[in-house]
Amino acid sequence: MAPVLPDAIMRVEGLQKSFGPNEVLRGLDLEFQRAATTVVMGPSGCGKSVMLKHLIGLLKPDAGEVWFDNERIDLIREANLGPFRRRIGFLFQQGALFDSMSVGANVDFPLREHSDLTETERAERVEKMLEMVGMPGTQDRNPATLSGGQRKRIALARAIVLEPDIVLYDEPTTGLDPIRSDIIGELISRLQKALQLTSIVVTHDVQLSFRIADRMVLLHEGRVHMQGSPDNFRTTEEPAVRRFLEGRATPEELAGLRPVEGEEKIQ
Ligand SMILES: Nc1ncnc2c1ncn2[C@@H]1O[C@H](COP(=O)(O)OP(=O)(O)O)[C@@H](O)[C@H]1O
Ligand SMILES: [Mg+2]
Repeated sequence: MAPVLPDAIMRVEGLQKSFGPNEVLRGLDLEFQRAATTVVMGPSGCGKSVMLKHLIGLLKPDAGEVWFDNERIDLIREANLGPFRRRIGFLFQQGALFDSMSVGANVDFPLREHSDLTETERAERVEKMLEMVGMPGTQDRNPATLSGGQRKRIALARAIVLEPDIVLYDEPTTGLDPIRSDIIGELISRLQKALQLTSIVVTHDVQLSFRIADRMVLLHEGRVHMQGSPDNFRTTEEPAVRRFLEGRATPEELAGLRPVEGEEKIQ
């Protein structure tokens, strides 16, 4: 059992998920503290996106529990998940904007579907969200004309437009250069503070993790390998954690590489 945080808003316990013979989550115990930023790190393919999908009920566990406040959301049927999902904003890895709609219509989309606001109120909310992500006045732009970083910011405005309690970020900096990544990191921190959000960020971007995390978690083989404060991670001497943070492969991983043609001559 993971230590119980004084104020966890979400919690998974003993979470297991396999796809055929591929055991992805192998008894994951994890808590997410309210109004704080938890970063879940781990190499590609270790199950970070699979974990996030359990938090919004897009996947059901083979075993284990998913708690949101005092409700077991893994037991709630798809048709009844709406009220919970409305409290959660999701920034998908691909950004996933509708290119057939303007920026404004993209951000307005959740409001049209899920709120009772009038058209004027919705337009005001859209403007406010675009300001919060540093893209004011871009309502009439076509998303296809925006850069990767700008698209992420619009997707972020859309993720927070219903004023959720929790925002889930799946690899928010993938495909962005370091400067654009830094801007997204700054936005995640600012929004968390301004809206008192609970942010759950999954990433393999170590620099981003240290920039935004109140609490850090490293997954390994479907379980929590280490969790703690950024300072705990900065100072740990645990070899597997250091290798991950410093981006070094294990000797076994390096031995698995085939020689590159011409390598012998270079040596
Ligand atoms: N719907 C699915 N069907 C089958 N395999 C899946 C599915 N979703 C994820 N996987 C597998 O689960 C593992 C973890 O995937 P994922 O959570 O996407 O990793 P990451 O940590 O990079 O986000 C991978 O081996 C992936 O191929
Ligand atoms: Mg992923």
